[in-house]
This record gives sequence, structure tokens and C-alpha cells, in this order.
Amino acid sequence: MKPRDGRSGDEALGDVTEIAPFRRSTPRMLLRPLEEADWLEFARVAELSRLEWAPWTPAPESDQTGHAAFLGELLRTVQGAKSGTHVRLAGFTERGALVGTFALNEIVRGAFQSAYASWQVSSDLVGQGLGTVGVRAILDLAFDDAPGGLGLHRVQANIMPANAASIHIAEKVGFRREGVARRYLKIAGRWEDHLMFAVTKDDRDGAG
Ligand SMILES: CC(C)(COP(=O)(O)OP(=O)(O)OC[C@H]1O[C@@H](n2cnc3c(N)ncnc32)[C@H](O)[C@@H]1OP(=O)(O)O)[C@@H](O)C(=O)NCCC(=O)NCCS
Repeated sequence: MKPRDGRSGDEALGDVTEIAPFRRSTPRMLLRPLEEADWLEFARVAELSRLEWAPWTPAPESDQTGHAAFLGELLRTVQGAKSGTHVRLAGFTERGALVGTFALNEIVRGAFQSAYASWQVSSDLVGQGLGTVGVRAILDLAFDDAPGGLGLHRVQANIMPANAASIHIAEKVGFRREGVARRYLKIAGRWEDHLMFAVTKDDRDGAG
């Protein structure tokens, strides 16, 4: 990987695991930051899942595809970790298959202590409970105290009303519905309404 300034990808990004230290291990999935060596697996899953993800998730920034999309995600991972504004984790099965992406975005500190969660699961692995595992793991990470977690107070998620599987995951892991955001996100070229979900640390503590 050679960015335009001639530095290798390694030099440009630094040691991803050092910059983005958060990782979570569950019996069915390891969640860790994306690394350069993940490129082929990332490309396989992106191609396989493109049509299934398109109705529910924003198109890649600047219409990036292929290796540019991978580099964009890698950079978002590293820059988000450096600035403390994003924790973006890739989930992997024990055999090394990429399950999907589970992220805490737009992390705001101060009196808010909040983030927006996002998730997507590879089309060849849906329907096996892995989405639920990944979302639970990032909520644990969000609410656990530092240094292992982010010590946040609130996590929000916005989901299109027709995305029944995603709404089901949100409700299963403790998100409650708070309202409707009209024409909230541009998805597949249209400004789509989204249902607004949120969960706070005390909701989760109370739920055991
Ligand atoms: C939504 C998505 C993450 C689900 O991943 P997954 O690994 O299949 O999720 P899980 O298997 O953990 O859970 C899905 C749940 O929804 C249920 N479900 C699936 N389709 C459903 C439907 N049409 N109506 C109602 N429930 C549905 C499943 O039965 C399952 O519930 P259960 O475990 O109680 O049986 C995955 O399909 C995906 O990535 N979709 C495209 C991207 C996306 O929508 N991202 C979220 C944007 S907000």
C-alpha cells in the first residue's frame, strides 16, 4: 500500500493495535481494529454484502470502492482512535472469517458522554446471532469503566423503520425507542426517516 506521499501504509498509519487498543473477545467472536493484513477478507465481505447493506447503510464516502474503501476504513479506525471520537472494531470468527463491523461513532465527552453505535454483518454469516453478539460487545465496551472500556453514559442508534432485523437486535440488547428522526440519513440516494434508539449505563446496570 503506497499513499501518494510515497510512505508505506505502515509508516502512514503507525501501529494500528497500539493506536487503537480496544479489543473484545467473546466465545464466538474476536472484535479488534482492522489491520492492513485484513485487506483480502475485507474485500471479499464488501463485495459479497454490497447489495444487502445498500438499502440500510450510507454509501461509502466519496464513492470509494475496492482498496480505496479499505484504506478509508483503516484511516477512520486510526484517526478515530487518535482523536478519541470513534472506536471501530471488526469482528472475526475463530477461523478468521470477517463477521462485520461494530462501531461507536461520534464519541462526545463532557456532560454528554455519548456515542452512536453502528453495525453490519457479512451476508454469508447473517441469521446466526452474530450481530447480537457484536452489538452486545460494543455496548459492554462503551459502558465499562476505563481503562478497559470507554466509561460512557449513553449510546444511541438510528435505524430505518423497515430494518426489522436491526430493530430486533437493538431491542434485544436493551435499546429503547425514543422517537423518529425525519429525513435523517441519505441512504441509496434518498433522505430516509430513522427510528431513534438509546440505552444508558443505568438502564443496562438495572437490566443486570
Ligand atoms: C441487521 C443485521 C446486522 C443482522 O445481523 P444478524 O447477524 O443476522 O443478527 P442476529 O442473528 O444476531 O439477530 C437478528 C435477529 O433479527 C431477527 N430477524 C431477522 N429478520 C427479521 C425480520 N424480517 N423481522 C423480524 N425479525 C427478524 C432474527 O430472527 C434475529 O432474532 P433472534 O435472534 O431473536 O432470532 C444484518 O442483517 C446486516 O448487517 N444488515 C445490513 C446492514 C444493516 O442493516 N446494519 C444496521 C443498520 S442500522
